Amino acid sequence: MSRPNSRPRLPSPFARRFRERADSDLAVLASNHTAIHGGRTCVITGGASGIGLAAAKKFANHGLHVCLADIDEKKLQQAEAEIAEIIGKDNVLAVVTDVSNLSQVEHLHDEAFKKFGEVNVLLNAAAINTGKDGTVGTAIENISSWKDVLDVNLGGIINVTQTFTGPMSAQENPSLIINVGSKQGITNPPGNAAYNVSKAGVRFLTENLAYELRTRGSRTTAHLFIPGWTYTGMTGAPDKPKPDGAWTAEETVHFIVRLGDFYIVCPDNETSPELDRLRMLWSVRDVSEGRPALSRWHPEWKPLYEEFIKGELEELVE
Ligand SMILES: NC(=O)c1ccc[n+]([C@@H]2O[C@H](COP(=O)([O-])OP(=O)(O)OC[C@H]3O[C@@H](n4cnc5c(N)ncnc54)[C@H](O)[C@@H]3O)[C@@H](O)[C@H]2O)c1
Repeated sequence: MSRPNSRPRLPSPFARRFRERADSDLAVLASNHTAIHGGRTCVITGGASGIGLAAAKKFANHGLHVCLADIDEKKLQQAEAEIAEIIGKDNVLAVVTDVSNLSQVEHLHDEAFKKFGEVNVLLNAAAINTGKDGTVGTAIENISSWKDVLDVNLGGIINVTQTFTGPMSAQENPSLIINVGSKQGITNPPGNAAYNVSKAGVRFLTENLAYELRTRGSRTTAHLFIPGWTYTGMTGAPDKPKPDGAWTAEETVHFIVRLGDFYIVCPDNETSPELDRLRMLWSVRDVSEGRPALSRWHPEWKPLYEEFIKGELEELVE
């Protein structure tokens, strides 16, 4: 096992690549994909609020028909009315859906295809970060929260993906499946193990989906959208004021359509793209260098982690 006195360094090509990527991170390429065009259709789970609703508005403004799915009927009705203001009430459909329930997801599929004929963009944004009783599933406690969170965050995406991918792939027009993951599913910060595990599952599922679609020559592509810290119901809105470090949902969905990329990693006011990448590298190096689990938060390794981040960021601005 390597020891805390060995300061890991990024090989310089990484640093160069970070610099080269900085500009393209800000590019918004919505209009470059044929799925995002007037008259096409998007289905958005978790579409009644937050990132899902902001995306629905963005797509409606591009002229897409919008099918919203959410478990919260009241918010869903409100969202439907807001989208109708943009695209007209004949071009929006709202279907109350619990994504963890396969027969409800199948009903959503039937309703969306019946009304719009095809689905060109599927955005899986529905998620929760605590159990129904409000507790967080730690690695040791609150087993019922584990079930709730995994059923919705991972089981929901499995249900929706399995139900929609075949019919979307069979369409003549190209289509997109965008699953919402989380940095927590990559760097695994301690505190909410059940949520982190669910989002790690979303990442692996979506990577496999992209691979399987690619190897079958499908016109459907899969993407993993990884928001930064975003001010939504999940992070305290509207009861608490927006923290300075968080982005609004509207800012975050700017990145959803950065197509061409599989991993769409979104920054926020606190975390730059470079810092994100360095955190991810540190995390994977726990495994490749045999360090203690979650060494970033280990008292002996934390100072080294901080030195690594500082050194690499300084090198980037040189
Ligand atoms: N807000 C952040 O900082 C942040 C960061 C990283 C990832 N994310 C992810 O972004 C996505 C959107 O979350 P948000 O931040 O907009 O939160 P949000 O709470 O505003 O939106 C989540 C929506 O999912 C719906 N939902 C919950 N359970 C459902 C179920 N069983 N079936 C159908 N709908 C259900 C909720 O009613 C809600 O409308 C989630 O996948 C979340 O994990 C958010």
